[in-house]
Amino acid sequence: MNLAGRVAIVTGAGRGIGKAIALKLAEMGATVVVNDVGDAEPVEAVAEEIRAMNRQSLTILADVSSSVDVARLVEETTAEFGKVDILINNAGIARDQLLLRMTEDDWDKVLAVNLKSVFLCTKAALRPMIKQRWGRVINLSSVTGLVGNVGQANYTAAKAGIIGFTRTVAKEVASRGITVNAVAPGFIETAMTQKLGEKWGEEFKKRIPLGYPGSPQDVAEAVAFLASEEARYITGQVLGVDGGLAISWA
Ligand SMILES: NC(=O)c1ccc[n+]([C@@H]2O[C@H](COP(=O)([O-])OP(=O)(O)OC[C@H]3O[C@@H](n4cnc5c(N)ncnc54)[C@H](O)[C@@H]3O)[C@@H](O)[C@H]2O)c1
Repeated sequence: MNLAGRVAIVTGAGRGIGKAIALKLAEMGATVVVNDVGDAEPVEAVAEEIRAMNRQSLTILADVSSSVDVARLVEETTAEFGKVDILINNAGIARDQLLLRMTEDDWDKVLAVNLKSVFLCTKAALRPMIKQRWGRVINLSSVTGLVGNVGQANYTAAKAGIIGFTRTVAKEVASRGITVNAVAPGFIETAMTQKLGEKWGEEFKKRIPLGYPGSPQDVAEAVAFLASEEARYITGQVLGVDGGLAISWA
């Protein structure tokens, strides 16, 4: 699989799964725009790692829940590299709380960063993709969006919403040579799952048929395949990357 000549945007790529995806796409030959929000240093470090592989990379700090920032993200990418071929909607946050204690702000913020961002980024990136009649959009959903999870009404609503969005947009742009898919990771060891604490971590791990948590690299490999030419006949799908967690959950 080769992505030479392709330009990719990876949102939330300063660490964790997004970082692994950015590095994997670069390894396969792509030029990669590394997006994140907040501190520039870790984001620039990812771009530096990519340049060390002799690939082009640009850091763009932007809040993907802001339409103004997203417009700038896509404009700066096309200004620098002339196009957008691949969009990875990876940025996400969790603010876990049982529903009865969940604040309106917890709901709004999680829906904005996890779901509205996917709408904004996809809409903005589709324009250049439609023009060139080739594109790949890959959205990070979650196994919890399929089966639900106590304390995550906001997060699971967003991740389930991503699945509906993926299937609908896949239909809308199929005739333009653009595929839209989602991946649904299970329990992947990152800063996000570290926050769950040891008790919940152990609970999750017990349920994984393969017997161990996933790594960001496991998710990156699946995303890289969906971004490749070899995956041209796959669209509107949700690919679980979860060690079997979804099949053991119900
Ligand atoms: N870790 C898991 O087990 C797991 C499982 C299922 C799905 N996911 C999903 O995978 C994605 C990556 O998760 P992760 O575990 O690497 O999380 P993480 O918290 O380690 O990384 C998320 C990144 O997104 C960035 N981000 C947050 N808000 C942003 C915004 N408004 N604009 C731009 N960037 C923003 C953060 O700064 C961070 O660098 C998320 O969408 C998450 O929901 C993770």
